[in-house]
Amino acid sequence: MIIAVDGPAAAGKGTIARALAQHFSYHHLDTGTLYRRVGLELLKSDGDIHDSRVATAIARNLHAYAWLDYELRTEAVGAAASIVAGIPEVRAALLDFQRNFAEQQPGAVLDGRDIGTVVCPHAEVKLFVTASPEVRAKRRLAELQESGADVSFEAILHDILQRDERDRNRAVAPLACAADAVIIDTSELTTDEAIAAAIRTAGSVR
Ligand code: DC
Repeated sequence: MIIAVDGPAAAGKGTIARALAQHFSYHHLDTGTLYRRVGLELLKSDGDIHDSRVATAIARNLHAYAWLDYELRTEAVGAAASIVAGIPEVRAALLDFQRNFAEQQPGAVLDGRDIGTVVCPHAEVKLFVTASPEVRAKRRLAELQESGADVSFEAILHDILQRDERDRNRAVAPLACAADAVIIDTSELTTDEAIAAAIRTAGSVR
């Protein structure tokens, strides 16, 4: 049983995917962290973020790197992840790991951008979690302010729009809603309402 949860940055897909995995006792993989790890290692190496040769070498050897969770969550690493995610060889290097993860029993929830379209096109449940850019920026701002960061709403909205644009328009495995995905727009929903909608949808297919 595979549940694919795709959607743009900060729409709530991570929260929904974690809640689904907990509810059904499935394994959970946040596939964005794979791209974030590649982006973080590239930033740390002081190399060119667009260097596909180095990025691919890192992606093929990802288990060899150690990282701290908070390092992965910054906006700078998110932006770097979005750039390396546009390199076809990087995506190819991460594909088998994701597909093997998805095959685990009794089931798996994977969240990302291309799970329902490329990684697991045969997933039994596909959700596309979205929200307006303004709502997503507001949520991200609250998160960052809570962790003490000094950032403006405008700067975050700008980052989110830029990331959307890059993720939707890359040539390989762009962010897209699968034809058979159920759309959950969280703009007007509380966290609990969004989770309940996702569990209802997944439960009706299971
Ligand atoms: O979900 P996230 O914000 O942690 O993802 C960071 C970047 O990684 C995102 O902007 C695009 C890329 N990504 C991807 O291309 N495909 C995925 N399945 C997951 C993330």
